[in-house]
Amino acid sequence: MSVPRMTRRRFLRRAALPTIAASLGLGEPRLSAAAAAVASITVLPAQGPGAIPVALTVNGRVYELRIEPRVTLLDTLRERLALTGTKKGCDQGTCGACTVLVDGRRTNACLTLAVMVQGKAVTTIEGLADGNRLHPMQAAFIEHDGFQCGYCTPGQILSAVALLSEKRPTDEASVREWMSGNICRCGAYPNIVAAVRSVAGQNA
Ligand code: FES
Ligand code: FES
Repeated sequence: MSVPRMTRRRFLRRAALPTIAASLGLGEPRLSAAAAAVASITVLPAQGPGAIPVALTVNGRVYELRIEPRVTLLDTLRERLALTGTKKGCDQGTCGACTVLVDGRRTNACLTLAVMVQGKAVTTIEGLADGNRLHPMQAAFIEHDGFQCGYCTPGQILSAVALLSEKRPTDEASVREWMSGNICRCGAYPNIVAAVRSVAGQNA
């Protein structure tokens, strides 16, 4: 009897789906459209002695909270809004793990104060898919095995989405250059580049 070969992709699908889902921001609870309309404004309790009122729009949902002005967007997303798909790596602007989109521009959330993004639209990995339909970049990362541990993956995907909207050249060297702010300690770069280029219509 022949035993089906356990490819890396098959192994991941069987054994690591929860990890993949979390890396792609799919493990977070999602609201139906109707529920989102009803609960589109979330009011959170104050935190810190110098807390001030702040309203943030994240993934199309408005959050009203009281935080100290020194709190970063990264800590606010993770600790106050429970959007833990955005990762903390270096916490000093060098790894790109915390990349989110602010009005469509890639931004290091660890270097950005939450108060600075009031009135702007923040997109995290949890807001990229359309319901159960993955964003093409998310699907491409799965198709091309663009990750190993997955820790850098949310930032990589958001950076890649912005790269294409910036209309950068998408030859291999250019993709590597324009993605160079996103570090992958697992060294999945060849597959990440292949995923980005496939969405750009340039299969590697
Ligand atoms: S955690 Fe923000 S760049 Fe590393
Ligand atoms: S997949 Fe592990 S750090 Fe990039």
